[in-house]
Amino acid sequence: MKKTAYMTMLCLAGSLLVATSTQAQTSKLVLREDNIEEVVNAMTTEEKVTLLVGGLPEGFKSEVKGVAGHTRPIERLGIPYTVLADGPAGLRFNPTREGTDQTFYCTGFPTSTLLASSWDPELVETVTTAMGNEVLEYGVDVLLAPGMNIHRNPLCGRNFEYYSEDPVLSGKMAAAYVRGIQSNGVGTSAKHFAANNQETNRTENDARVSSRALREIYLKNFEIVIKEGKPWTVMSSYNALNGEYTQQKQGLLTTVLRDEWGFDGIVMTDWGGKDNTVKSAKSGNDLMEPGYQMEIDRLMAAVKDGQISQEELDRNVRNLLNYIVKTPRFKGYKYSNKPNLKAHAQVARQAAQEGIVLLKNDKSTLPMNGSEKVALYGVTSVDFVPIGTGSGQVNTAYTVNMQQAMTEAGFTLDEHLAEFYRSIDAQENAVDMMERGRVTRRKHAEIAVSTKAIGLQAQANDVAVVVIGRQAGEGEDRILKDDFELSAVERELLQNVAMAYHAQGKKMIVVLNIGGVIETASWKHLADAIVLPWSPGQEGAHAVADILAGKVNPSGKLSMTFPVSYMDIPSSKNFPYDPTDRSPRRGTKRNVDFTEYEEGIWVGYRYFQTNDVEVSYPFGYGLSYTTFAYSKPTVKADANGFKATVTVTNTGKVAGREVVELYVATPAGGLEKPARELKAFGKTKMLAPGESETLTFNVSAYELASFNEDASAWETASGNYQVLFGASVTDIRCTSAFKMSKAQAWKVNDALGKK
Ligand code: BGC
Repeated sequence: MKKTAYMTMLCLAGSLLVATSTQAQTSKLVLREDNIEEVVNAMTTEEKVTLLVGGLPEGFKSEVKGVAGHTRPIERLGIPYTVLADGPAGLRFNPTREGTDQTFYCTGFPTSTLLASSWDPELVETVTTAMGNEVLEYGVDVLLAPGMNIHRNPLCGRNFEYYSEDPVLSGKMAAAYVRGIQSNGVGTSAKHFAANNQETNRTENDARVSSRALREIYLKNFEIVIKEGKPWTVMSSYNALNGEYTQQKQGLLTTVLRDEWGFDGIVMTDWGGKDNTVKSAKSGNDLMEPGYQMEIDRLMAAVKDGQISQEELDRNVRNLLNYIVKTPRFKGYKYSNKPNLKAHAQVARQAAQEGIVLLKNDKSTLPMNGSEKVALYGVTSVDFVPIGTGSGQVNTAYTVNMQQAMTEAGFTLDEHLAEFYRSIDAQENAVDMMERGRVTRRKHAEIAVSTKAIGLQAQANDVAVVVIGRQAGEGEDRILKDDFELSAVERELLQNVAMAYHAQGKKMIVVLNIGGVIETASWKHLADAIVLPWSPGQEGAHAVADILAGKVNPSGKLSMTFPVSYMDIPSSKNFPYDPTDRSPRRGTKRNVDFTEYEEGIWVGYRYFQTNDVEVSYPFGYGLSYTTFAYSKPTVKADANGFKATVTVTNTGKVAGREVVELYVATPAGGLEKPARELKAFGKTKMLAPGESETLTFNVSAYELASFNEDASAWETASGNYQVLFGASVTDIRCTSAFKMSKAQAWKVNDALGKK
């Protein structure tokens, strides 16, 4: 063969080779962590748009059943679907599946309010490390949690899913929650961003909030979780904020969240389609959930007619792809469907022990010695409430109830009484089954016990334990009558039991198995001891029994205030509650169509403490079976903030842990200031009697700042700062002070709209 002919052949073969390999490359282009830009460029508009709308293509089956949502696959480019499931007290999906006998139960951990009452971020991280393992091992990519809206008003139906009335406590707990879950290589979704503080008309309500209240109260906790927890995703809320739906509010989702706080994950909508998907996408709401065809159609049309620019579309797509490459599904993780539920139940029990709050303990009523004969009253002693209802519920294999837990702890129960409540529970379950959808009577409504029976029981038993139960849930706010306030039957039960047992020189202990704050001022004098386990998860009753029997020394403290009466709370004037008919307001504009956050920053203790208003139990309050002394506070300040220490000594007779709350009273600097604000907190290790520990707190100058609306700036005033070390917001044990010589300011965008 001639050389030239040979060369031509080689060249031809070469170009053929190049051609085939380019084709192969194009057809083989699959998503990798390092080729996101290339994949974005290779995607059709339709592919891009479908990636921004959740759901699954028709006929496509998810491996994980009964979850809240998905992101769509694009198989051509090796983009898998991903799975999103609730949150926050554990993973929620269907526990049974067609075609298999295997069950898929999840652990019901304590609800967020209880976790917050532990004041222990390390504990929260341990809990959510276990929870996140279930997320991973059940094939889920993102847990739709933490829920972290501020407890603005106790009647909000979802407060049990949230942490606190205080943004620092809420933010630190949420950050710990996120770190624990994400340590498993799965994601979280900090929700509901933002000002979603009521359930009444939650999908339409316009929260009208001043910039100062937003920055200092309703956004501060989100700022902390974004900076310290780095959640993969954020969920925008249903409601509007100052006239714009949050999912369509560029100032919130882009200017504040991304530009100011540095968030680099995806924002998804809360579940349900809103008008103006296009505005949402443009504003920085990357993903529409659960995803509807109409949203795809709207986005397609908007890209075609230029309403959404190519840059905007690509920006959101890029965010989605950056998220997808982090997921276990993308990485091909072979999940087991067999998390260690037994071990996680122990974690749930320990967490409940750490967050239960002892509200009252006259004459050392508690702990009992563990062998008493106990008359256990209340329908929730059997039908124990581990959690609330709605998307925050968890399908658990079991819930331990108070009868079981008390018996296991060694107490002897009054069997007649126990049987009475078991039979009521059985009847109630039958009613529920028969009348599903139109249950006539509120579940957990208390049943009257005759005074004669109570009298006999008081003779036959050593002590009475009365369990008061409440369950709240998504989609509905609580009401005053029979919910915030005790029902007539509950009141009568407490009165009659107290009277009969006290007449015998015996005690009455009350256990509050509730989801949110209730009225306590009018009846607490009747009880010798009050234990508050909130809704403590599937193992919570064990934890209550551990505390009653003295196996565990309580160390939880309130993450919110218990007021004397409902109307003492400033936001009650502007909450969906009608004082005349004592039911939620329906069909009126105020507090339904819009809610004025007239109280501004005066939420919770900021109001009560500053205005010296009496409360039933203050923020940060909780008793122990031992006592603690605080000594030797030190404070070292410079322009960057301050470092403080305090030494805590166990001065009592049993081992225990103490929460120390660090409040700061800041100089006015031209603004109205709360008397004191929580800036940091710490919890000692288990201290043996006589043992001490020095706790250290670091607070930056920025964290000391208040928000000046006129200047749109965070400002740390110059002047004298008082540092207070408290066992609660009202129980300050020692103080220190420092001087800030120079004022500092951090200018931010005026992006949140005027109320
Ligand atoms: C809730 C969210 C939840 C979502 C998915 C919505 O109704 O507000 O908190 O994550 O449903 O279940």
